[in-house]
Amino acid sequence: MKSILREYKQARSEQISSYCLPIIVDGKVLGQLKPLTIDSIENEEVIKSLMEWRLAAGQWFATQFPANEEGTRAWAQHQILEVDDRILFILEDEEQTPIGQIGLMHYDEVAHTCEYDNLLRGRKGRYGNIVLHALLTLGAWSLRELGLQKGYLNVLSDNARAIHIYETLGAVEVERTPLRKEVVGDVIRWVAAEGQLTGEPEREMVTMVVTRAAFVSRFGQMIELENGEGKSWT
Ligand SMILES: CC(C)(COP(=O)(O)OP(=O)(O)OC[C@H]1O[C@@H](n2cnc3c(N)ncnc32)[C@H](O)[C@@H]1OP(=O)(O)O)[C@@H](O)C(=O)NCCC(=O)NCCS
Repeated sequence: MKSILREYKQARSEQISSYCLPIIVDGKVLGQLKPLTIDSIENEEVIKSLMEWRLAAGQWFATQFPANEEGTRAWAQHQILEVDDRILFILEDEEQTPIGQIGLMHYDEVAHTCEYDNLLRGRKGRYGNIVLHALLTLGAWSLRELGLQKGYLNVLSDNARAIHIYETLGAVEVERTPLRKEVVGDVIRWVAAEGQLTGEPEREMVTMVVTRAAFVSRFGQMIELENGEGKSWT
C-alpha cells in the first residue's frame, strides 16, 4: 500500500491534476491538496514558500532552525520524496496559489495507522476555515485510499489553535510528554525531559489520536467512503 504514496509523489506534471485532492465545501471547490513531487522541488517559488512558512512558524514545531532554500530543498527530497511512509501535500487556494501544507508520516500499512504532520497555513486564503476543510479532505482520503483506522497528532501544549482544530476533527489527547529546551548554536530543540525536571515543565508535547470511528461519526455524511460506511455511522 505504500506504493500508493509513491504513486502520488511520482506523479508527472501532465498527470498531476488527477492526483490533487479537491477541497469541496457545499458543492464548491475552495482549493486543493497537491502532492509534493519532483516538480515542486524544482519550483523555486514552492521551495521559497515552504522555507518562509517554516521560518515564520518555527516556534510551533519541536525544532526551530534558520531554514534556508538549500536545506528546504534537501529536506523535501530526502525526508519526503525518498521516505516510503511519508507524503506532503501543498494546500492551494481556488486559484491554485500555495497557501499552506499538510502531510502524513509513519504510515503503517499493517496497523493502518499514521501520524499527520507538518500542518501549516502560510498565507491567508479567502476562506477563514480552509485549514479545517483541508484536514477533512486529507482525513477522508486517508480513510478511503490507505484504509486508515487511527491517526496520531503531536502538538505543543501551548498551540491552542492547532489543538482546537484537531479536537474539531474528533481527536482526543492520549499522552503528554514534558519537554526541556536544548539550544545548540542557532538551533532550538524541545526534547523529552525524561525525569530530569524539577517543577512544572516549560512546555509539553501533547499526543492526540483520531480514530476512524470518531472521524466518520462526525463527518461521515460529508465524506465519500465505500460501502456506505459514512451513512451507517451517522
Ligand atoms: C494551526 C494552523 C494551521 C491553524 O490554521 P488557522 O487558519 O490559523 O486556523 P483558524 O484561525 O481557523 O483557527 C483554528 C481554530 O482555533 C480557534 N482558535 C484560534 N485561536 C485560539 C486560541 N487562542 N485558543 C483556542 N482556540 C483558538 C479558532 O477560533 C478556530 O476555531 P473555529 O473555527 O471553531 O472558530 C495555523 O495557525 C498555523 O499554521 N500555525 C502555525 C503552524 C502550526 O502551529 N502547525 C501545527 C503544528 S502541530
